[in-house]
Amino acid sequence: MKIYKGKSRIVFVFSKIAIKLPIIRFIKAFKIAKYWIKRRIFWQSIYEYNYYTYSTVQIFLLLGIMENWNEYRFYKETKSIFLVPTYFSLLGLVNFQKIGKPFYMNEELFWKRLYHITQGKIFDDPHHFLDQKNFSKTDDRLQMLDYGNHKCFRVIREYGDKIFEEFEFV
Ligand SMILES: Nc1ncnc2c1ncn2[C@@H]1O[C@H](COP(=O)(O)OP(=O)(O)O)[C@@H](O)[C@H]1O
Ligand SMILES: [Mg+2]
Repeated sequence: MKIYKGKSRIVFVFSKIAIKLPIIRFIKAFKIAKYWIKRRIFWQSIYEYNYYTYSTVQIFLLLGIMENWNEYRFYKETKSIFLVPTYFSLLGLVNFQKIGKPFYMNEELFWKRLYHITQGKIFDDPHHFLDQKNFSKTDDRLQMLDYGNHKCFRVIREYGDKIFEEFEFV
């Protein structure tokens, strides 16, 4: 069994299945909540954006759960061949995904190929698309294993099949 830590999830990879658990950052959320209370920042500041906003507390507590849930819903809806299948999610608290295979290729070549196939659309979500760790090389095809953030949905809907068919590793 191998353990990987992503931006919002911790992943346990067994021989046949990957289990994805959300990282819930209680301490960071608590520190921010304390800061609010001290400065009496409540509802009026929900729409302000700075490091201590309401949304930051939400993110520290819920991001991993939301990404797990999005991943399951999006796979269920699209069943895209470009996605490593997510079989089941227990309300985002735990996800069961088919195992993917990590790989490494020259980064510039990787980006150029994706850029070319998607006509530059990978820059809708550079955080996901530029990081090879979010992908798997399965039977010499490129598949995505981190697709929990809605920013990547449009690119996958539009170009997922094309990437799967056309991406070359050499
Ligand atoms: N299905 C999988 N099979 C094998 N490894 C995986 C799988 N899903 C995730 N991983 C590994 O775990 C890491 C973190 O998972 P990821 O889905 O990217 O979480 P995060 O959204 O937190 O970045 C990935 O970069 C990858 O190395
Ligand atoms: Mg990731």
